[in-house]
Amino acid sequence: MLHIWKSFSEIKNSHLVVLLKNKFDFETYNFLHLEEKILSKIEKTFQDQKNTCFKIFTGREDFEEIIFLFYLDVKKDLHLFLWENISQIPEKITFKYEKDNILLDSIILWKYDYIEYKSEKKELELNIICEDLQTNNLTYRLSTLKNITDNRDLVNKPSCDKTPDKYVQFIKNMKFKNTKIKIIEHEEIKRLWLNLIDAVGRASHYKPRLVILERIIDKKLPTLWLVGKWIIFDTGWLNIKTENHMYNMKDDMAGSSALLFMMKEIDEQNLNSNIICALPIAENSISSDAYRPGDIIKSYCWKTVEIINTDAEWRLILADAMSYISKNYELESITTVATLTGACMYALGYNYAGVMWNNRQIIDNLLKNETFESYWELPFNDFYKEKTKWNISDLKNLTEWIFAGSTMWWAFLSNFCLNNEKFTHIDIAGVSFVKEKYWLYNEWATGFWVDSLSKLFLEYGKISER
Ligand code: BES
Ligand code: ZN
Ligand code: ZN
Repeated sequence: MLHIWKSFSEIKNSHLVVLLKNKFDFETYNFLHLEEKILSKIEKTFQDQKNTCFKIFTGREDFEEIIFLFYLDVKKDLHLFLWENISQIPEKITFKYEKDNILLDSIILWKYDYIEYKSEKKELELNIICEDLQTNNLTYRLSTLKNITDNRDLVNKPSCDKTPDKYVQFIKNMKFKNTKIKIIEHEEIKRLWLNLIDAVGRASHYKPRLVILERIIDKKLPTLWLVGKWIIFDTGWLNIKTENHMYNMKDDMAGSSALLFMMKEIDEQNLNSNIICALPIAENSISSDAYRPGDIIKSYCWKTVEIINTDAEWRLILADAMSYISKNYELESITTVATLTGACMYALGYNYAGVMWNNRQIIDNLLKNETFESYWELPFNDFYKEKTKWNISDLKNLTEWIFAGSTMWWAFLSNFCLNNEKFTHIDIAGVSFVKEKYWLYNEWATGFWVDSLSKLFLEYGKISER
């Protein structure tokens, strides 16, 4: 429950949370008319220590208690400080909003719980005091945070409730205002010769789809394409995953989910470029009617691919989606976003998404972006691209004994930029979910990459060197 108020006097029976970055900030709370002895206690606490959290019970009927978060250490990350103290913050909260309020982000992202399947639903009660001048900033940030938490909800949802049919319905229900939705059904996938998408998805009872989201501003502007992996569940098929690697595979759609909510985020914003997303949806399932290691499949662009490992399914669905857009549209750049490799997870843990290849403008801006979402660039060179070629087919979907697992993804996929478009690849395997509460991440889906990607593409036309 969220209420936006104009003044403190409108609120009753809540806990007031105050973040003070220095002693003088406190003066902005003079209106509370705290008793002299309380004021001197606060002042003493400030003098004695920095980076502290303490509560004051006022005994007043409007605020049950006031929680001061006093932060004064430029060297330490403010988010970490908030994270360390966030357990002190109750479910019924009041705070004052000022531009870029870090408390707003921390409370909403940290207090998030996935409750869709719980019989008893506990709800957060949030009162935000906001002055007229700040209302637009607050409303905008709240809508971004909602897209992040909606993204979490979708990634957290069990695979049985996000089958291709249900997912397509979900997208239609999102009520985009300026974004066109095009759905390529399974029959059409086969007719168009999108054989790699068909190979991965046809074994499932829930047949594959290719969804295209289009935001065309002006045909004269450059067109940026994003491709997101939506694997409903990744069993690994004949190269079956072991128990501990299988469980979390319901999140194997986090890449396209991030793009879906990024499109929602920019749906009503002004853009300087056309943005289109291709979201191939399939379930890497188990049945006799599926691809096997050793099968050779002719892809959409006619390059043949030998399947070495059925668990490297993402290379296949992204490859067909990429060559489909590369052949049919005139593009400035392609960016793929996906939960791709355990290798990236081992290299970067759950703090950084891996990013690489040759669109410097996108990569540099992601590396220095100012949201909570961090990226790290991984190395590449042409040697790896050569290694994707094969003697009995044009390409193979896994090159053994190379070890640079993360680097090999762009190497394989770069074969499907048919017109040498600039290509950026983002691996979010490590950062799409976490197994314990940490920092702004709640347990499980992080919902991240909506914020940094939407900001990047909103800015794209302005920063372009064209
Ligand atoms: N869906 C996985 C990648 C993944 C791993 C996502 C861990 C989230 C957490 C991907 O399809 C996969 O199976 N990757 C394999 C590739 C290997 C068989 C070449 C991997 O990285 O182990
Ligand atoms: Zn996968
Ligand atoms: Zn896999």
